Amino acid sequence: MSLKELQGKVAIVTGGASGIGEGTPHLFAQHGARAVVIADVQDEKGPLVAGLIGLDRCSYYHCDVADEEQVKAMVDWTVQTFGQLDIMFSNAGIVSSSDQLLLDLDFSQFDRLFAINVRGMTACVKHAARVMVERHVRGSIVCTASVAEI
Ligand SMILES: NC(=O)c1ccc[n+]([C@@H]2O[C@H](COP(=O)([O-])OP(=O)(O)OC[C@H]3O[C@@H](n4cnc5c(N)ncnc54)[C@H](O)[C@@H]3O)[C@@H](O)[C@H]2O)c1
Repeated sequence: MSLKELQGKVAIVTGGASGIGEGTPHLFAQHGARAVVIADVQDEKGPLVAGLIGLDRCSYYHCDVADEEQVKAMVDWTVQTFGQLDIMFSNAGIVSSSDQLLLDLDFSQFDRLFAINVRGMTACVKHAARVMVERHVRGSIVCTASVAEI
């Protein structure tokens, strides 16, 4: 990929404060993205990652993807602040402890997993698509959030 492949693009990376997501805003900025929004719940780490990339290019926005209203507000803020949305990297997710036995299955953990990895991922896709369609943007929506981490 050419280093300027993402020249002028506006991107959101959910779960961008650590792990796979943390590397992505760095790459997007290197490839020319003019704005990358890290949407995460890690309010200490997220701003640090944004600061390392450069606050002129990267912002942190607190967003729990399990809450559709927070996802909607985060996507709308991105469009209002930067004018459009070209890329949604829906990456926020949690890993289930795989050592649970069926007979001991904890449904509070199960529900949280589905709220983030399935419902949250879908909310991010929905609201990214909404603003892209409204603005006639042929954008990219990529998901790494696991929908089957159980
Ligand atoms: N690492 C792997 O081997 C692997 C394999 C398959 C799929 N995945 C999926 O890829 C994604 C990233 O994996 P990772 O290994 O980097 O995970 P990670 O735990 O290192 O990072 C996940 C990020 O998502 C954030 N996050 C968690 N819940 C959130 C919520 N409700 N709202 C917003 N942000 C939230 C965390 O704060 C963290 O920054 C996950 O969705 C994971 O399920 C990872």
